[in-house]
Amino acid sequence: MKILVVGGGGREHAIITSISKSSKVSKIYCAPGNAGIADLAECVDIGVMEFDKLVAFAKEKEIDLVVVAPDDPLVAGAVDAFNEAGIRAFGPKANAAIIEGSKAFSKDLMKKYGIPTAAYENFTDPDEAIKYLETADMPIVLKADGLALGKGVLICNTLEEAKAGVKEIMLDKHFGNAGNTMVIEEFMTGREVSVLCFCDGKTIKPMTSAQDHKRAGDGDTGLNTGGMGTFSPSPFYTKEIDEYCMEHIYKPTIAAMSAEGREFKGVLFCGLMITPKGVKVLEYNARFGDPEAQVVLPRMKNDIIDVFEACIDGTLDKIDLQFEDNAAVCVVLASDGYPVSYKKGLPISGLETFKDKDGYYVFHAGTKFDGDKIVTNGGRVLGVTATGKDLFEARKNAYAATEWISFDNKYMRHDIGKAIDEQ
Ligand code: AMP
Ligand code: GLY
Repeated sequence: MKILVVGGGGREHAIITSISKSSKVSKIYCAPGNAGIADLAECVDIGVMEFDKLVAFAKEKEIDLVVVAPDDPLVAGAVDAFNEAGIRAFGPKANAAIIEGSKAFSKDLMKKYGIPTAAYENFTDPDEAIKYLETADMPIVLKADGLALGKGVLICNTLEEAKAGVKEIMLDKHFGNAGNTMVIEEFMTGREVSVLCFCDGKTIKPMTSAQDHKRAGDGDTGLNTGGMGTFSPSPFYTKEIDEYCMEHIYKPTIAAMSAEGREFKGVLFCGLMITPKGVKVLEYNARFGDPEAQVVLPRMKNDIIDVFEACIDGTLDKIDLQFEDNAAVCVVLASDGYPVSYKKGLPISGLETFKDKDGYYVFHAGTKFDGDKIVTNGGRVLGVTATGKDLFEARKNAYAATEWISFDNKYMRHDIGKAIDEQ
């Protein structure tokens, strides 16, 4: 089979690493890819939103299956565009990807179908939002409705902060049109866990759990980022919690989307919070998480192509999804200054140390070739993943492997997976 993966970050590198292990695959292309992905796939210089060019390329190369990985093209209808041209594509169509594309939509869906989530109201008028905030309990959470690179969420401790937040999202349009509608939501406390689920429209099968670290600094300080590291599985996501989520969250969500005429096929990412009052949905994403994919996929035993095809064909019930009985930790190596401002083009050394080392992976997030050298090309540069028999061993291995890599301004968090010490 010939495969085209749309995207070019660490998540796509992890997906392509899994695809490259499938005996069914003869050739992999990636648009646009990056310097690490180029080891496994032929990278083509087409952007993820250039649907006409992507479709023309897929036709020309007689691609058997396209995998659309990032949120923007999914929400804008990339899978629809491939399907209309008669090309098989893995991922939700636009009418289902809205579950990530609009937080107001997803909150209304949860309310309508009784899926546990924080209490909320949607607003399109900033004056109404402020009136509501004047009588609300603090802290409180403001969320821009649309896609905002995972950054459109403000946690406000005082009324003044909340009022400034309304201005930032709805008036100053800090997140662009994503802030035309805003969700105001009850603040919850508890452990966060990410559960990515394969879906074929009727059947939903959760993968092993993971936990992300969104803040830039140690001890969950600093600005929100795309994710500074992950571990899998989450020791806090017990069998009882999994059973509860299956009955009260996963199955009801897939059924709700079907009932709304928005059949969901692809990966449904459930961002959950285990609160003192039970498990609640923080957010849905319509895709693999980044950097969750970098710890979940290395632990998956199945041929990923079989699973992708079952999702498209509606035969996921026939798949026995299996994960290794081990653990994985991913530490993101960023360029100091991320997520605000940082240098690009810094030469990276040590990447070859990972070759042929079982259980160690270096997933490229923001890299490119400069001549025959690999240089940094983004804020998040690399994701160093290691497996181990348990989380403690995986964390030790991952941090040891971060030392194999050098580049100027290399920055990482030193407490990825610290939560496991508190079990
Ligand atoms: P989201 O993009 O909706 O997942 O929000 C980003 C992050 O903000 C989450 O991972 C949580 O850490 C935090 N967050 C979002 N909603 C809430 C909430 N209702 N209560 C507390 N924290 C929240
Ligand atoms: N790691 C969070 C996300 O992919 O949205």
